[in-house]
Amino acid sequence: MKFAISTLTFALAAVSTAQYDNKSLPFYLTLTSPDASTDGDFITACHTGAGIESLCLSNSSSVSKPDPSYPSTFYFNTSSDIGPPAPGLGQPGILTYSLNISTGEIPSAVTLFNDPTSDFALPLLYPGSNDAQVFAFDDENKLGLTGYVDYTVNPPKPGSFKTYYRWYSCPTYYLGYYYVNLVWSLGAAEPETPGCVEVSVKRVFSD
Ligand SMILES: *[C@@H]1O[C@H](CO)[C@@H](O)[C@H](O)[C@H]1NC(C)=O
Ligand SMILES: *[C@@H]1O[C@H](CO)[C@@H](O)[C@H](O)[C@H]1NC(C)=O
Ligand SMILES: *[C@@H]1O[C@H](CO)[C@@H](O)[C@H](O)[C@H]1NC(C)=O
Ligand SMILES: *[C@@H]1O[C@H](CO)[C@@H](O)[C@H](O)[C@H]1NC(C)=O
Repeated sequence: MKFAISTLTFALAAVSTAQYDNKSLPFYLTLTSPDASTDGDFITACHTGAGIESLCLSNSSSVSKPDPSYPSTFYFNTSSDIGPPAPGLGQPGILTYSLNISTGEIPSAVTLFNDPTSDFALPLLYPGSNDAQVFAFDDENKLGLTGYVDYTVNPPKPGSFKTYYRWYSCPTYYLGYYYVNLVWSLGAAEPETPGCVEVSVKRVFSD
């Protein structure tokens, strides 16, 4: 019974609402990678549509480059009602950002955009927090995503919460914009797009 309740809590947490209102201190997102030209790079929010930003590699020199290219400041909004789904896992929350427009700042949060013909999801910052993806930072400040279904067995087995780290840097195309972005692989394999490299994402508090 205890398990059923925690599973339900987690299922509710996956659909985020405005309850994620406890904003963390500001931080940058930095990458480590076996690829030398990617290792140590940061994430910059890049314009990719009206009010929409993607998570560009700050130093990427793709068809389009981040402008400006300095690391962006992010926040992690958690909820006082939602704790870690299992001992040792990080507190669930949404990755947030303040988009500057002429009339002020718009709170935005990361959603995973899925094109069903691609094998990765593209993290995008949209205004507000509807459909925001729930993530967690582990005790080494690494960004991951927690799941409780093991899809590698037949039949898939629900039960143990586990944190996944399926981040890659990939060349992307979205609504007319070409960038090198942080993406989430849908499954354990490296995405099929040439030029993808495995990365791990860590937060570094900026003050
Ligand atoms: C994050 O939390 C702050 C503080 O409560 C809030 O102002 C902001 O709207 C939240 N961000 C999002 C995207 O919900
Ligand atoms: C990113 O570019 C800056 C400025 O050119 C440079 O100082 C820095 O070493 C670069 N970082 C990486 C990880 O390539
Ligand atoms: C908000 O989060 C901080 C950690 O970032 C924690 O210390 C604090 O207790 C939280 N506040 C509430 C009301 O949950
Ligand atoms: C938004 O503008 C304010 C004031 O000019 C500045 O302090 C802040 O760093 C800007 N934020 C971003 C994300 O560019």
